Amino acid sequence: MNPQTAVPFVDTNVIPDRNVGIGSLLWDLQNPQDPDRDGPPLLNPEFAFIDVGVSRARVATALKSLLAHDLGLEVNYVATERVEAVPYANVTLLGDRAQEIRGCLSGIFSSKGATCEVKDWHFVVDGNGKVSSVAYSYNLHGNEVWEAYFMGRKFMYSGEQVEFSDPKLDETLAPEVAEIEARIDLERKRDRDPSQPGPSWDGYRMEKNPLQAGLAEFGITLQMTDVPQRIIGRQNILFLGNVLNHYPQDEQDRELDRLVANLEPGDIVIVQTDEVETPCIEVLQVMRRGDQNSRKRVRWIHTKTLEIQQPDRVLGSWRHIPLRPEVERMVGRLIECLERKVNSPEWTQRNHRVLVHQYISHVFRTLFRALPVEVTLRIAIREALRRLPYEGGPKGIPVFKHDAKDAYGGALRLDPGPIVSEADLINMKMAAANEERMRTPETPRLEPHRILEFAG
Ligand SMILES: C[S@@+](CC[C@H](N)C(=O)[O-])C[C@H]1O[C@@H](n2cnc3c(N)ncnc32)[C@H](O)[C@@H]1O
Repeated sequence: MNPQTAVPFVDTNVIPDRNVGIGSLLWDLQNPQDPDRDGPPLLNPEFAFIDVGVSRARVATALKSLLAHDLGLEVNYVATERVEAVPYANVTLLGDRAQEIRGCLSGIFSSKGATCEVKDWHFVVDGNGKVSSVAYSYNLHGNEVWEAYFMGRKFMYSGEQVEFSDPKLDETLAPEVAEIEARIDLERKRDRDPSQPGPSWDGYRMEKNPLQAGLAEFGITLQMTDVPQRIIGRQNILFLGNVLNHYPQDEQDRELDRLVANLEPGDIVIVQTDEVETPCIEVLQVMRRGDQNSRKRVRWIHTKTLEIQQPDRVLGSWRHIPLRPEVERMVGRLIECLERKVNSPEWTQRNHRVLVHQYISHVFRTLFRALPVEVTLRIAIREALRRLPYEGGPKGIPVFKHDAKDAYGGALRLDPGPIVSEADLINMKMAAANEERMRTPETPRLEPHRILEFAG
């Protein structure tokens, strides 16, 4: 077991933000910023996006909203999940016992290093009617994160089998598990024969087929399969978000071959791997070679250091784009805008400023997987400000001038001026150019439009 696998209490970090970074990547693949170097768009104006392994609906629905609504992409969004991983129901316990168990989960989770308060939790019932896990959520930089406790079952983490159980928690959960399984048994009998009496769900809230239902609300259909079906008539983008690392290392290549078996030349595969030493996103294009399909790497992104590598047509080698300095500069500019606008005593407190920096930086670092352009920068600003702590935060102030919608869903304050004006936005976009002019020749820095070659 390597050091990473010694830590987890969980297997899945289902963080909508993390996958939402795919939005800026797709935008960039469709709108190359430097067509001479980058070549023609790799992404067609209309495409089908197949999100493979959506263990929770919310992750896919957050990404679909960003692609279809915020970025206005012409996307046909489909999700897939292995039949055996599609839950039959989510069951939420109501009342004091639920609070007791919530406290117990918080205690266990906090003892793993971070002080995290569990906000919400429920039992997940699998396709065989058995309680297979407990899903719980907590808050991370203004974002709701869901993880799972697998009740002693082994699970895959970073390509390795891990087992975690907490005997005290198992003991606490045992009476509820037995009760829920008995009621689910009656529920399933009634599914098969509607004349049978159904169970009472007093003291509980039971949602059947939560994955299908959650996806359907956003117009996403679920393919229950482990080999995605290709969507006919469009370029297909197959998104493997933490799917390959679900398999042992030596099986991952074979699994990738299996997953892409139905793709056609011109289709794209995006492989995202988080929670490993080198978290990254790899973009592959399916090519025809002789009578076989092969895959060509067209982009590679280190999602922790925010380094991008992509082929340069002019040089015939790879171009290296360091994204981080750009992102950090924009975070700084946004904080300057906030300081000017948000007149709250908290801003004099260092802790508050650190917290605000953390929130904004977290959102920016997860949203940018390509150099910012106006549309992605606008979204990043909106998302970052939406997540700021409420106390003394900018609730009710429009993000941009002439922003007709209230980004925060509440009434506007007395001063309805925007936090970021169009002029601020232009200023933010120009930040890189300004800094470039001010730099002395002795301090060379990697610029997005300059090229650093690397072997390969
Ligand atoms: C770690 S979760 C990833 C969840 C989400 N896609 C993400 O990026 O956070 C991996 C999920 O992939 C599913 N999975 C693994 N192999 C699959 C396959 N061949 N087809 C569909 N889903 C698969 C697992 O059942 C599990 O729900």
